[in-house]
This record gives sequence, C-alpha cells and structure tokens, in this order.
Amino acid sequence: MSKNRAPRAGVVGWPVDHSRSPTIHRHWLKEFGLPGSYERFAVRPGEFPSFAVQIGRADLVGANVTAPHKEAASRFCDRRTPVAEALGAVNTLWRQDGLLWGDNTDVAGFLANMDESAPGWTTRTKLGVVIGAGGAARAIIYALKARGFDRIMVVNRTLSRAEAVVAHFGAPTQAASWPDLRAALKEADLLVNTSLLGMAGQPPLAIDLDPLPDSAVVADIVYVPLRTPLIEAARARGLRAVEGLGMLLHQAAPGFARWFGARPSVSPALRALVEAEVLGTRVEAQ
Ligand SMILES: NC(=O)c1ccc[n+]([C@@H]2O[C@H](COP(=O)([O-])OP(=O)(O)OC[C@H]3O[C@@H](n4cnc5c(N)ncnc54)[C@H](OP(=O)(O)O)[C@@H]3O)[C@@H](O)[C@H]2O)c1
Repeated sequence: MSKNRAPRAGVVGWPVDHSRSPTIHRHWLKEFGLPGSYERFAVRPGEFPSFAVQIGRADLVGANVTAPHKEAASRFCDRRTPVAEALGAVNTLWRQDGLLWGDNTDVAGFLANMDESAPGWTTRTKLGVVIGAGGAARAIIYALKARGFDRIMVVNRTLSRAEAVVAHFGAPTQAASWPDLRAALKEADLLVNTSLLGMAGQPPLAIDLDPLPDSAVVADIVYVPLRTPLIEAARARGLRAVEGLGMLLHQAAPGFARWFGARPSVSPALRALVEAEVLGTRVEAQ
C-alpha cells in the first residue's frame, strides 16, 4: 500500500448497485474518524482476476465479494481461511506477505446475529431445519455444525441441490423435500430460511409454523424486507424470531478491522441507518 494515500476498499459484484456494504463501511470510517474510502466495483462475470490482481497494489487494501464472484474469488486466492476453504466461497479479500487471502465471514455474521438476537438459542440443538440449498445455505449449515446440532435437515425446492449440499458436508446433514417439512418441524429446535422466498419481488415462504415446538427459534437471513412474512408469522405464533439484517451488519466487521485497523461494532445507529436505507428500497431491488 502507498504510504501517502488513504486506504481504499470496496465491494466487487455484478450488479453491485444494490449492495449495502458502502453504507456500513462508510459509517464506520466516519465513526472512527479514519482516512479511507469504500467503493462499489462493478466487475463483469469472468473479469474477476483482472480486478483481484490490483488488491494490495497502490492504495487498494481489500474488497468484499458478492454475486456472482464468490466462487471465482475462492479459486483465485492464494490462501483461504479454514471456513472459506470449507465453503468454497470467499466474501472478504486482502493481501498479506504478497499473497491474496480470502475469508468467508457469513458464518461469523450469522452466529453473531443469533447470539445477539436470541441468547441461549443453542440450548436445544437436536434438529436444525434449513430451507434452501444455495450459497448462503452452506454458510448456515457450517454454522449449525460448528454449534453442535445433532441433525441438520436441508429442505429445498430442487432436491438434487439439497443432496449435493449434504454430500459436501456429510453427517449430520440430511436432504429432504417439501412434503417432509411438516413432520420435521414437529421436532425442530431451529428453522432457518436461506432461500429467496420472502424476499422483495419473490413469493412468500408460506409454511405452517404450528407444528414447531414453543421453544423453537425461527431465523430468516433475507433482509429485504426487514421483517419477512416468515418473521411475522413466527412472532404471531409466539416464537423467537431473528431477522436477517444483523447477519449482514456483523459479517462486514472482520473485513473492516483487517483493512482499516479498527474493530467496529454493530451499534443501534448503524442498524437504524441501514434499516432506513432498506425501507427506501424499491420492490424490485435485491
Ligand atoms: N443476511 C445476510 O447477511 C445474507 C447473506 C447471504 C445471503 N442472504 C440472502 O439469502 C438469500 C439466498 O442467497 P443465496 O446466495 O444462497 O442465493 P442462491 O444461491 O441463488 O440460492 C437460492 C435458493 O433459494 C431457492 N429458491 C429460489 N426461488 C425459489 C422458489 N420460488 N421456491 C422455492 N425455493 C426457491 C433456491 O432453490 P433451488 O435450488 O430449487 O433453485 C435456492 O435454494 C438471498 O435473499 C440473500 O439476500 C443474506
């Protein structure tokens, strides 16, 4: 990094206009009074390598990675943290001793949000039900494995994709299709939605939560809208429900600390700022 210029970081994706990361990192830069900037880098699919080689040169200290580059970033890195290695997807990049490093902070972000929003949520860990089998599902499954769930059931519209995830993670994950869901909910300690259902512009996740035990916790990692139909239904049913925005805020912290040298916190002020931005989001935004 140049000694004379303030550090720069940013989020790389295609498209990247929808990303909330600039709001989060700029808030922290201002809060700490640090010199530096955080930008959006619109990089087309296939052009990730020509972007990534610039990291660690001049003033560009690192980047967050969003769709569709997370897998390409993982392949392109010289070194990955154990969690990034296990997920095959990278969302945070930096250069160290000349080598490009990649981390995946979605796991830590999900766990920090759960710990903060539903203290004691791992008191019961017999069965966790995960809806969806995309990239985000992998981070949630890794997190539930790390917290010692006895069984993790992956329910997905396309069963073969759930089976591929289960083949990747092994025990204690198992694949299931929609008709299996009702029976599984009767025993579930935790239900997490990682599918697109409930997101603005998508159909709601319309499932009956009645079979869930009264002690069950429901989490939705979708954060546009802030309170999805699943979250509303869980609260109406009297269950503890964890919204997705906190995961987004917490997953940003490790990158900031690495690039700008200060350990940020997820304050009420930051939450209010990003909530206001999400509330202003048009329905078609993702
Ligand atoms: N809070 C956070 O920090 C955070 C972090 C990461 C992601 N997310 C959110 O998590 C969600 C998923 O992201 P992702 O990267 O995992 O996406 P993805 O890889 O595209 O996976 C999408 C998943 O949704 C399912 N799905 C899509 N449309 C469906 C429908 N109409 N009916 C049933 N299932 C449907 C897909 O099922 P098929 O396999 O059958 O297509 C797949 O399992 C997004 O809303 C994203 O914003 C939040």
